[in-house]
Amino acid sequence: MSAAASTSERSLSPVVRAAARGELPEWARASEKRRAHIGRVAALLDEWARALGLSEPERTRWVAAGWLHDVLREAPPDELRPRVPPEFRDLPGKLLHGPAAAERLAGQADPELLDAIRYHTLGSARFGRLGRALYLADFLEPGRRYEAEWTAALRARMPHDMDAVMREVVDARVRHVTESGSTLHPQTRALHEQVKGA
Ligand SMILES: [Fe+2]
Ligand SMILES: [Fe+2]
Repeated sequence: MSAAASTSERSLSPVVRAAARGELPEWARASEKRRAHIGRVAALLDEWARALGLSEPERTRWVAAGWLHDVLREAPPDELRPRVPPEFRDLPGKLLHGPAAAERLAGQADPELLDAIRYHTLGSARFGRLGRALYLADFLEPGRRYEAEWTAALRARMPHDMDAVMREVVDARVRHVTESGSTLHPQTRALHEQVKGA
């Protein structure tokens, strides 16, 4: 992405730089258990950014995305709902924290980083490489109990087989949503179409 290519240390806001050091903003609403998950997601992103040979400012953005993605995960949905743009107001309560965090961070992070956070649960066809990496790190971090053997195998293929891993994960998550009888969000459907065609 062009925004990523031009990232310099100076263009990163104090909030982003602090997050990359593991310091969350004072308005964070995340329990100790949640912070442990957040730390594992950030560690995976750090590992992948290094393996891809990203520049130092780029790696800072990736790690910050990990630390910030669930920063409002424990805020009550009733508090978040009025603060998200209209197209997100009807989301189930558990999914509001992504859009709400992106709104709260507006002006303090670049558009790709904000989109990565905004859509980290729904997924989005607008994802750049950072958005995809966050979506995958959130799902593949080793603290999750879901399908441990399968996710360990997928982690072992990251980050160099990212497109294929993305296809498998999006496929599995879409299947899970449709089998549980829920309707796919249009952004999720768009991402699914995009990765299938990749
Ligand atoms: Fe989340
Ligand atoms: Fe998360």
